[in-house]
Amino acid sequence: MNLVVVSNRVARGMANEPMTGGLAAALLPVVEESGAIWVGSSGRVRDGAHKEPFAEIEALGAGALALLDLPAAHYGGYYEGFANSALWPALHSRTDLIRASREDYLSYREVNAFMARALMRFRKPETAFWIQDYHFLALGAELRDLGVSQPIGFFLHTPWPDRATVGAVPQHRELVTAMLAYDLIGFQTEHDCENFLSYVQSDLGLTVADGVVASRHGISRVAVFPIGIDPEKFAQQAAKAASHPDVSRLRRSLNGEKLAIGVDRLDYSKGLVNRINAFDRMWSLQPSLARTASLLQIATPSRGAIEAYGDLQSELARLVSDVNGRHGEVDWTPIRYLNKGFGQTVLAGLYRTAQVGVVTPLHDGMNLVAKEYVAAQNPADPGVLVLSKFAGAANELDAALLVNPHDIEGMARTIATALSMPLTERRMRWEEMMAKLRASTIQNWFADFVDALQESHADKEASVPL
Ligand code: G6P
Repeated sequence: MNLVVVSNRVARGMANEPMTGGLAAALLPVVEESGAIWVGSSGRVRDGAHKEPFAEIEALGAGALALLDLPAAHYGGYYEGFANSALWPALHSRTDLIRASREDYLSYREVNAFMARALMRFRKPETAFWIQDYHFLALGAELRDLGVSQPIGFFLHTPWPDRATVGAVPQHRELVTAMLAYDLIGFQTEHDCENFLSYVQSDLGLTVADGVVASRHGISRVAVFPIGIDPEKFAQQAAKAASHPDVSRLRRSLNGEKLAIGVDRLDYSKGLVNRINAFDRMWSLQPSLARTASLLQIATPSRGAIEAYGDLQSELARLVSDVNGRHGEVDWTPIRYLNKGFGQTVLAGLYRTAQVGVVTPLHDGMNLVAKEYVAAQNPADPGVLVLSKFAGAANELDAALLVNPHDIEGMARTIATALSMPLTERRMRWEEMMAKLRASTIQNWFADFVDALQESHADKEASVPL
């Protein structure tokens, strides 16, 4: 089979290049190993991109990376507009932040149609297409309109919210109807899957049986594929990274002090304000923890042209400075706050240096930082994961200390518990989580989805459209 994987953002094969978001970092090794063609945005826009859309095609492991310049006239409406100011807030249950204009929606559809036309270059009789994430909900339908009858699958990396929240996006019907052109639709959790099926049944009035939806496109299968990492490889990377200059400098700077770490894109879904408030509360409730434990929070700027992101960045800067001002000492900074990205290798080393990993999103599809923090630990002396129950990862990593990120006091107490957890309990919890990570790797995720896509396609071909 010849597989074409499509996502808006792609990663290149450089371990030290800062990674933006879980999707691109997760896909990189499996694309390299599988020999797939990975098509995505070059990050540049061009007028007249439709004449020769591909900016670059380069080798990527056994596969290839094909980068597309997107049409200048529609890029803003597609990326900052509909994808990240209408869909992203809706998918993360922030209906108050939805900014949805008809114009942005049309740009989104234009870019989906543009991508479909560009993909024709890679279409062979045995090609299967696998579309990633909310940027391309309608890409499958556009491909079908161009006459593509090959397997087309879709995987959503974010949560899928309840019916009422989906209904807040003005074009919800058109979009979900377009999604049914896919043979297979994959979600991170059972809960996402149930929400989607309940929408399809109640709002579109379609028949659903055993995770299969019947529509005018024939049948589509809807199933759960929790995304994973390569835990052994990440563990090796973390052990090796101990000697990296950034990691050694961090260790030297600690002077026996314990460290908690948070690594997130600067995004309102990540619960950063609540997290900082929890640390503030912890140092107020337990002044003995001042000087003995600090937080390293890496918040990589993201989607900065969107107002909600700019506002959050200012709010966090004020909050961190206020907390440091109140709790700090001449020789102790409670929160080390960095607005920049780091490569995978350095991150692996930083995770291994920290006694506590704090991953407390308000909503998150999976959250691979949680999995990477676990994999990076020293088996003889592992750290503790404090994890939001609203991250998809909490389904598997239930041996973490699970928290409700809206309960600031509860989080403060749990972080303090994590900082003082005895070795036997830390090891027990860590081993349980590592076993889960080993049983559900990124390689399994990739292979399971591709196998299921072939099967679903055969079923769709045999089905009669409504
Ligand atoms: C999330 C999304 C990805 C996206 C990433 C980074 O993980 O699911 O699709 O690539 O955030 O966001 P950005 O807008 O910088 O690509």
